[in-house]
Amino acid sequence: MNVQTPKHTADITDAEESLKLQEAQQVVVDSKAATEVAMQNTLLTPRFYTTDFDELDAIDVSGIREEWDALIAQMVADPNKGHFKKNEDWDHVDWDNMEPELKKEFIDFLISSCTAEFSGCVLYKEMKRRGNNKDITQLFQLMARDEARHAGFINDALREAGVAVNLGFLTQKKKYTYFRPKFIYYATYLSEKIGYARYITIFRHLQEHPEHRFHPIFKWFEEWCNDEFSHGEAFALLMKTDPKLTQGRNVLWIKFFLTAVYSTMYVRDHQRPAFHKALGVDPDWYAHEVFTKTSKLTEQIFPITVDIDHQRWQPNLEKMQKANADLAIATKEGKFFAKIGAQARAVSAFVSLFTIPVKKHKVPAVTRLEPSY
Ligand SMILES: [Fe+2]
Ligand SMILES: [Fe+2]
Repeated sequence: MNVQTPKHTADITDAEESLKLQEAQQVVVDSKAATEVAMQNTLLTPRFYTTDFDELDAIDVSGIREEWDALIAQMVADPNKGHFKKNEDWDHVDWDNMEPELKKEFIDFLISSCTAEFSGCVLYKEMKRRGNNKDITQLFQLMARDEARHAGFINDALREAGVAVNLGFLTQKKKYTYFRPKFIYYATYLSEKIGYARYITIFRHLQEHPEHRFHPIFKWFEEWCNDEFSHGEAFALLMKTDPKLTQGRNVLWIKFFLTAVYSTMYVRDHQRPAFHKALGVDPDWYAHEVFTKTSKLTEQIFPITVDIDHQRWQPNLEKMQKANADLAIATKEGKFFAKIGAQARAVSAFVSLFTIPVKKHKVPAVTRLEPSY
């Protein structure tokens, strides 16, 4: 077993986008507070992961060679090579006159997105560095390339507001959470697919309502989410190499990750009312849209979906969100019993969500999908 965490920034940044990333890593004005936010490890903030890289390296993709090669060829072709650069579509952003609450929530959104993108970059780059299996290292190199661009581009946007996340510092100092490879597959696959669903839902909404596009970064979301889509495809294929991963007791783990990822997203998004109001998006509508799309996509490899139309679904998401808001207040005010009470309510809401009967379906023989939303 080989589970050390990455020690050197140089290992992470030797991708072909290293320049972009190094630029993004420069410490700029006010980056300390942003980096502190990115350093947080709570249930709701993006984490950095490490895993058993030897086990990942041992994956044999020969049984799915045709689908695998088609995906890799598409990623090597790199249709988004020139996409993550500011151009004439990048309108001026009047940060100074942005409504303070919106500015706070939007910066928080950007920091959290940047951390999540960079978390993918760190994990993928490390796998590339540790592995010897050409199929696996090539895939992870390609995905690290994309995530480096994504994180760097968000940091570019943040820098205009006088804020930047110090990615080099994060790489060295942020805590790494160990996940067994199968949990990495479930969690990362889901986060890539839900990432696609989130970006495309906002992009389509703003296509219809351009008056709500309060920042130019949203114009970049369409091509962006296609990268996430491909990454999700890669994890679907990795899981396909071992049918046991999506059978038997593992189906319960899949259900757990679906419930956890969906409910976390719901709670986190509801912490940003001003941001959603500015976008003209009702966060309940948005959550339902994203869950619907993600569930449809994950049918490609998961044999179940969670029943998001069940009568217990929405009320318990709301219960969990309320418990979380109360928990934040109790923590701030140092009220021990109120904190315990809120935690208990959050757990009970999660249990109620988790015990909703799932929807089953037959997984298709051909896994690969194309972005269609
Ligand atoms: Fe990304
Ligand atoms: Fe990704």
